Amino acid sequence: MQAVAAESGDRGSCMRVDIITLFPEMFTGVLAASILKRAGEKGLAAYHLHQMRDYTTDPHGKVDDRPYGGGAGMVLMCQPVVDAVNAVEKMDLLPSRRVLLSPRGRRLDQKLAKELAREPRLMLVAGHYEGFDERIGQLIKPDEVSIGDYVLSGGELAAMVLLDAVVRLVPGVLGDETSPHSESFSTDELVEGGLEYPHYTRPREYDGLPVPEVLLSGDHAQIARWRRMKAQEITARLRPDLSVRMESPAAK
Ligand code: ADE
Repeated sequence: MQAVAAESGDRGSCMRVDIITLFPEMFTGVLAASILKRAGEKGLAAYHLHQMRDYTTDPHGKVDDRPYGGGAGMVLMCQPVVDAVNAVEKMDLLPSRRVLLSPRGRRLDQKLAKELAREPRLMLVAGHYEGFDERIGQLIKPDEVSIGDYVLSGGELAAMVLLDAVVRLVPGVLGDETSPHSESFSTDELVEGGLEYPHYTRPREYDGLPVPEVLLSGDHAQIARWRRMKAQEITARLRPDLSVRMESPAAK
């Protein structure tokens, strides 16, 4: 349908992202702001939105129908989805890693985000209505991914969450100073293994609350130790499930 960001000449490092959806307009604001926008401008990601309805052979533009066996809601039909995926696949020689957003999929976490960030091409398929005809999965062989145990009205918001988590991990997107791999105790390792340490900025005191003295000391080793300790404390208090994983590296 449209390319939201210009494609880079350097195909080696540019991730191509195809998004198949009935609501491409939902993506335009998100792709045109912050890190996703910057990745596009730097030529590190190229987003291509495709209207699923453009691929239906139904003269009235129908993409869904009532479920066999009865029940509430409408089901996305095989033809428009499968034809859209096949047509979009052919738009580039790079084979795509296909991701179908669905509440029954593998739960998105930092490990999966890192895995997807290594793909040169992602194809995200977002459905609406009650769900997809079961045969679509057999035909397009996607990874089904969920962003959590709740039901959204469609896969679009989930696709945007996934994209944000993934694209920021593409090398070069965050810049060297904040690269997830530039520090031994990086933000992303913290998120993966547990929660982050607390952050403070100016002023040194606000409404009677001071910034912890150690952060003003200039002693980087001591600051690193303090942050590790605080991260562990916070994780144990707020996410004991992650805390257990941090203590046993084998479980990571
Ligand atoms: N579509 C509807 N709900 C969803 C969820 N929780 N994750 C991914 N896709 C969805």
